[in-house]
Parts: sequence; structure tokens; C-alpha cells
Amino acid sequence: MARLAGRYLVEVPHDTTTTSVAPGSHLDLERIFGRRAPLTVEIGSGSGDVLASVAPAHPERDFIGFEVYLPSVASSLTSLDRAGADNVRIIVADAAAGLEHLIGPGELDELWTFFADPWHKKRHHKRRIVNPDMARLAASRLRPGGLWRLATDWQDYAWWMLDVLAAEPGLEPVDAGPDGFAPRWQERPLTRYENKGLLAGRAVRDLTWRCVRGQRADSLQTPDGSRR
Ligand SMILES: C[S@@+](CC[C@H](N)C(=O)[O-])C[C@H]1O[C@@H](n2cnc3c(N)ncnc32)[C@H](O)[C@@H]1O
Repeated sequence: MARLAGRYLVEVPHDTTTTSVAPGSHLDLERIFGRRAPLTVEIGSGSGDVLASVAPAHPERDFIGFEVYLPSVASSLTSLDRAGADNVRIIVADAAAGLEHLIGPGELDELWTFFADPWHKKRHHKRRIVNPDMARLAASRLRPGGLWRLATDWQDYAWWMLDVLAAEPGLEPVDAGPDGFAPRWQERPLTRYENKGLLAGRAVRDLTWRCVRGQRADSLQTPDGSRR
């Protein structure tokens, strides 16, 4: 952390706790990256496995990971350094607050949520990071046409995600099969969490949804007025 924080961590104004973000804050992307390029945000970037794999392959894009768990943040800085990724920054903050207060409407090209904590118990479902508020936020922060890529190895969370995303009028599915899920995103590397799920015999589901803010209402109405 001490060696690499200056290169990869972006300090943001915090609110009442260390992981919340002060309302009214905004990221000066031009100052942070020295340019304006298509921006991807990862929610819960963990040890940075996906960022360290994808970002160096896309020097024309910029990436920000929101992560709250400091040991994972520290690992991700090492991974990014090893990968030689210059176009990535990590923000230690709650991703929902970060998206809301730091990213402007339409500023995102892609949003990623891979292997988010499943919160199995019904009374804990409200803690799930993929929820109606997050879906609304995603639809507002993505540019029209921008993608939200998700993956999970928990079937009940996968169905939950489908329900939540389908209920958000600013999003529509991309490449969805009859079961509603998308093919695996080829660039997504195998992370520790995915591997753990596979070894335990769980199937991994990918979801790809597109922001259609301001475009979707008409296209989704069938002649009898029902939603497709
Ligand atoms: C199961 S891990 C998956 C990590 C990574 N996406 C991967 O696939 O390897 C979920 C991560 O999300 C982080 N996380 C959970 N809630 C968060 C939040 N509200 N904001 C930012 N990160 C969060 C956790 O600390 C954890 O590192």
C-alpha cells in the first residue's frame, strides 16, 4: 500500500464513515488519468484480478475499481503493478455512494459487478449490491448504449439480478438466451471466486445489460400494452 498508493489510489472526500463519500464530490477524471477516455467502473474489484487482466489489454480505456476491504485493495495494487496497468485507479469507498456522488450522469461506458457477495439469508437480501436503487443508478451513470456486465455463481442471486434488471426501464438485455443469461464475457478472467464456485459444482451465470435511458419505453410496449 505504502509503495503503490500514490500511483493507484484516489483519495475522495468521505462523509460520516470511511467508506461513504461526501455528497457533492466529483472526480476530476482529466486530472486523474491525464486525459478523457471511455470509463469503466468495477463494483467490488476485490484483489483486482479482472482489472489487472483487462485494463492492460485496453490502453485506450480508463478503469476505476471501488473496493471497501483494505487487504483486497492492497493485493489489487500489487496485481496492477505487476500487470503494468497505468489506466486503472482504485477508490476505497462504498461503490453505491461512489457511483452516486463521484460519477456524473452518462459518464460511464461500462459497469462491472462480478461475484458480488450473495447474502443468502432472506433477511439479508436488502444488503445485496445489485438492487433496484443500484439498477436505477447504473442506468443513470451509464451512457446510452453503455454496458453493465455481471456474473455470479449463485443461481438464486442470478435470478434475483435478472428480476432487478428487468424491472429497471433504463436497461435492456444484450445477447440473452432463453434463460435470460448472456454467454460468458470472453475477456473476463477466471478469478479466485469464480474458481471456488466452479470447484463446488456451481454454474456461473453472466448477465449483460445495456443502458437505454430515454429510449426503452416505446420499444418495449407490445400492441396490447403489456411489457415484453
Ligand atoms: C466476493 S468478492 C468478489 C471480488 C471480485 N469482483 C472478483 O470477482 O474476484 C466481493 C467484493 O466486493 C466488495 N464489496 C462488497 N460490498 C461493497 C461495496 N458496497 N462497495 C465496494 N466494494 C464492495 C467486497 O469487499 C469483496 O472484495
